[in-house]
Amino acid sequence: MKHCQFANLPTPIQHLERIGEKIGYPNLFIKRDDLTGLEFGGNKTRKLEYVIADVLHQKAEVVVTVGGLQSNHVRQTAAICARYGLECVLILHDGESEDPPSGNLFLNQLFGAKIVKCSPDKMDTTVKNVMEEKTSSGKSAYFIPLGASTPIGAYAYKKAFDEMLAQDNCFDRIVLACGSGGTQAGLLHGARCSSWRGKVYGVSILFDKSTIVGYINQLLKDLSMLDGEPVQKQSELIVDDTFLGQGYGVMGELEKEAILLFAKTEGVLLDPVYTGRAAGAMLKFMENGSIKPEERILFWHTGGTPALFCEKYRKQLVSN
Ligand SMILES: Cc1ncc(COP(=O)(O)O)c(C=O)c1O
Repeated sequence: MKHCQFANLPTPIQHLERIGEKIGYPNLFIKRDDLTGLEFGGNKTRKLEYVIADVLHQKAEVVVTVGGLQSNHVRQTAAICARYGLECVLILHDGESEDPPSGNLFLNQLFGAKIVKCSPDKMDTTVKNVMEEKTSSGKSAYFIPLGASTPIGAYAYKKAFDEMLAQDNCFDRIVLACGSGGTQAGLLHGARCSSWRGKVYGVSILFDKSTIVGYINQLLKDLSMLDGEPVQKQSELIVDDTFLGQGYGVMGELEKEAILLFAKTEGVLLDPVYTGRAAGAMLKFMENGSIKPEERILFWHTGGTPALFCEKYRKQLVSN
């Protein structure tokens, strides 16, 4: 499949030796997709390599996408549009205000993207209006849905799975944060097309189980059609939605403890919304024994670093 090349690949797999020693899990590793590049990196860089190739193929001049005020996907889209000279319109939920803008929101402004804010219930109409407005002014516009979790975007994570296999094919389990589901769908599709025997364990950050399982299953079907590679086996689709309780973007003790542990013990930065929560969940599974000490575990870091610089999180992380 056509793709552009702007990600720094392969991303390294590192042994988290010091955390492992501290918690009694000697075989804990991390896949550093926070180092993919595109200004602070993250999982969207891989997806955008494929999606932007489609934008260029369709000769679109404007890219329109959606997300929360601190969306990483939106920031990475704004960065790559700047690099390709594409006009970029970001439609953001106005649930919370941020004055002055910090983290991803601040970066979007540096990248010169146009920001349109609207309430979550007006998202669809706002997208439709912006797309119509661009078309009627004679510009061809391309819409990238939430998290670039289209079959094309998710396909990038099938390739990422293959990249991991080439680096190390002995993991028993991959743990990752699951938002719109494209990353997990791609990894699981990769697993199903290979002889790998491990589990792909998603920690849901946004949606309840039945919603996200529905999205991922649809993506898996679309991926099989798009890819054409025979699925060898049906690895289970596992998403845990028991960590949604505090709400999207609400950093509690779980996330804070994980962020501080990774930062102070390994010098690795997690983010307050996605990877902090997924790592916190993984540590709970270790504590309650549902992940066994003899397992070889890969925590897939999906990025999100700029959110650490949001005033509301920064204050919580450095207080007391
Ligand atoms: C840092 C980070 N991790 C994980 C995810 C989830 O990825 P996906 O939407 O592909 O499930 C996102 C997406 O929003 C993200 O920004």
